[in-house]
Amino acid sequence: ALSGDNSDLKALIRTIPDFPTQGIQFRDITTLLLDAEGFALTIERMTAMVDGPIDAVAAIEARGFVFGAAIAREIGAGIVLVRKRGKLPGGTVSVDYALEYGSDSLEMHDDAIPQGARVLVVDDLIATGGTVLAAVKLLRGAGAEVGQSLFVIDLPDLGGSAKLREAGVSSDSLFEFE
Ligand code: PRP
Ligand code: ADE
Repeated sequence: ALSGDNSDLKALIRTIPDFPTQGIQFRDITTLLLDAEGFALTIERMTAMVDGPIDAVAAIEARGFVFGAAIAREIGAGIVLVRKRGKLPGGTVSVDYALEYGSDSLEMHDDAIPQGARVLVVDDLIATGGTVLAAVKLLRGAGAEVGQSLFVIDLPDLGGSAKLREAGVSSDSLFEFE
């Protein structure tokens, strides 16, 4: 679901054509992050969308760390780092997934989730949903209850938010791009 209009924040996103590959319109959040008021409002409005009690925020490398950490701090929850392959030092669980522009593998520490923990997944953007669905698979496999995911940007034409809903995870974002 979308929360309000948020066109003030949408205007802070820079679009770069043909990155990282031909035909992709890359929605660049670095310009929003440079704007102190824009970043603060982003965190405030995302935090206001958090639905129900949360034991931990799962933040997805790399851009998801920025937003996930700030939201976790606001709601008083800890953070589970969901990382790209090979970065975590402890025992891990991992899953492969496809991206709008390639493929990758996500990992999480195998002891990161207390049984039954209510986990909120945070990332900057949802496109095909491959990344966040992989994270949900890891989290649920480890015993987490995942009911909500939160993004700055949704690209609904790529179908990710619909796939998440089918998986029983609500998907909330501040604004969309076609
Ligand atoms: C981007 C973005 C999301 C994902 C969305 O991350 O930050 O995590 O792609 O795409 P999807 O819905 O099609 O899976 P990317 O893998 O480019 O990595 P980064 O955050 O490390 O830049
Ligand atoms: N991740 C997947 N698709 C993307 C896009 N179009 N812009 C920025 N990040 C993305």
